[in-house]
Amino acid sequence: MLTVRRSGFMRRLIDRFGRLHNNLRISVTDRCNIRCFYCMPADNVEFMPKSHLLTFEEIERIVRVGTTLGIDRIRLTGGEPLVRRDLHVLVQRLASVPGIIDIGLTTNGILLDEQAQLLKDSGLKRLNISLDALDPDVFKAVTRRDGYERVLAGIEAARVAGFSPIKLNAVSVRGLTEDQIVPFGHLARETETVVRFIEFMPLDADGQWQRDKVLFAHEIIAILESEFGPLRPVVAESGTVDAKNPLAIIGNTITHAPAQDYEFADGRGRIGLIASVSQPFCASCNRFRVTADGKFRNCLFSHEETDVKTMLRSGGTDDEIAELMLECIAAKNEGHEINSSKFIQPDRPMYSIGG
Ligand code: 5AD
Ligand code: SF4
Repeated sequence: MLTVRRSGFMRRLIDRFGRLHNNLRISVTDRCNIRCFYCMPADNVEFMPKSHLLTFEEIERIVRVGTTLGIDRIRLTGGEPLVRRDLHVLVQRLASVPGIIDIGLTTNGILLDEQAQLLKDSGLKRLNISLDALDPDVFKAVTRRDGYERVLAGIEAARVAGFSPIKLNAVSVRGLTEDQIVPFGHLARETETVVRFIEFMPLDADGQWQRDKVLFAHEIIAILESEFGPLRPVVAESGTVDAKNPLAIIGNTITHAPAQDYEFADGRGRIGLIASVSQPFCASCNRFRVTADGKFRNCLFSHEETDVKTMLRSGGTDDEIAELMLECIAAKNEGHEINSSKFIQPDRPMYSIGG
């Protein structure tokens, strides 16, 4: 292990490509109450033993150490994070860590009706809700479970609790969700909701992903434009956009947001596109991850991970934890290579890594 360099300068999570990592995504469980086909097997899922899950104390410790390396934003993920008991207590603890300016949560919304207000009161700032279809039958085809009505109730509870804007994540799959796109466009125009379409990535449990199942961002834009007229890319302040090829800015290199937002021509409503496959945003990636069972990961698609749980449970010091983070970031690859013939899907599917 490298020795810790002590200097007057703050050490930061900067990789070989100059990317600064300030965004920590924490998976709090691999369990889930639905079974989206692009993430989980349909049945007989083997979950992590509960004793392998990082405790709230351990997560808080990682976050405290992370802030000394420049982490200032957190997102809680899963599995489904709301099935982790007392999640709001974790939110409260992390919200009070000095240096943390933003805490978000990505949820499937099923348990949100009962938790939205509590989460808001505990200091949760942002909420992304996964909803792939507005048609209940398509919802069931994707998730292989009931729950559509509960998600709608969850979205409403989030609105009442004051989360704004509420972002919906809709994974788009060829042959399955094309006819959901226009209804989502209407929803975005008629409510304050930002709908973000995500290209289907090779992170499913059954290894069924195929490129021809990806509904590409440019196709989604074409479907929306044929219904609503031209879409206008929203450019971050001081950003530039090539008017002839607005898709070239997909993945916002200025804000580090993976989504490129678009406005409808009349200014009513906003949608986003997360073109993870066709326009990877790796070049502006600022994300570092920790899995529910305590492994640091520098990328969703990484084949290596760094065990921090053992260090936490065997008397490791804060400096040693910091060093482990720095080493993990130092080993980060340039990009995910989904579009290369060399690409190999990671062993862990999405629910086990954390979204
Ligand atoms: N491809 C694209 N998006 C995915 N998600 C989960 N699995 C995949 C996949 N294979 C999405 C979820 C959620 C977010 C965390 O990631 O729908 O919105
Ligand atoms: Fe559960 Fe989210 Fe995976 Fe769907 S994508 S099965 S909601 S963890």
